[in-house]
Amino acid sequence: PARVRTVHLQRAKDAGHRFAMLTTYDAMTAALFDEAGVEVLLVGDSVGNTVLGHSSTLPVTLDQMVLFSGAVVRGASRALVVADLPFGSYEASPEQAVAAGVRLMKEAGVHAVKAEGDERFAPHVAAMTAAGVPVMAHIGFTPQSEHVLGGYRVQGRGDGATERLVASARALEEAGAFAVLMEMVPSAVAEAVDAALRVPTVGIGAGPATTGQVLVWQDMLGLREGRVPRFVRQYARLHEVVGEAVRAYREDVLDGSFPAPEHGFEA
Ligand code: KIV
Ligand code: NA
Repeated sequence: PARVRTVHLQRAKDAGHRFAMLTTYDAMTAALFDEAGVEVLLVGDSVGNTVLGHSSTLPVTLDQMVLFSGAVVRGASRALVVADLPFGSYEASPEQAVAAGVRLMKEAGVHAVKAEGDERFAPHVAAMTAAGVPVMAHIGFTPQSEHVLGGYRVQGRGDGATERLVASARALEEAGAFAVLMEMVPSAVAEAVDAALRVPTVGIGAGPATTGQVLVWQDMLGLREGRVPRFVRQYARLHEVVGEAVRAYREDVLDGSFPAPEHGFEA
């Protein structure tokens, strides 16, 4: 099947269709999700939490994003691959943003980048787009700013909040963003933003009105025991599947039932 391009996401919105986006950080899950038809693969800076074991996305470097993004690009043949610009790699200036975006496209081969930030980042989005780097804007709760925002909390509540979010989204669209992602905003606010934009929207904890939805794959597939955010639906419990399989493997090794004769080589 032909490669998904940003134009196809626009066509989805124009036609009243939806698309699915899922994080991935390696070639094998990228191939799995790609084969399952997921339209957009996100190399999220959530790799800092899910793969690298940090408690936030802040320590993730551009070098690390290039490494993980290259693996995803090599694993996917159809999906549009979008990589996050990590904290500290783009905020200082539009020039810095262009340099970071170009690196991810040139060295990792991603098709687009995602950048957190409101209308104050419109110049960065415009510069990247002009340079040939398609940008998905990310507004609402922006995890890289958790220490400014006062922790993980729903954004876009209270007087004038909808208007401010709509204004941010419009400015980013005007600057050239091909899509606007919203994280943890009330469903009605996301609906208003989507209605105000020509370009497609993507939601996580933003209700059903956005053009696309995104989840972190380890949350969606239940790789870890324990609570997941309320906006996650768990489609599998890989924690149990993998845990049982690994316990069975270990028991077989300890009691000598693995390897069996058929696993050995003849002289
Ligand atoms: O890094 C990430 O996984 C993300 C999505 C959750 C939107 O930015
Ligand atoms: Na992210």
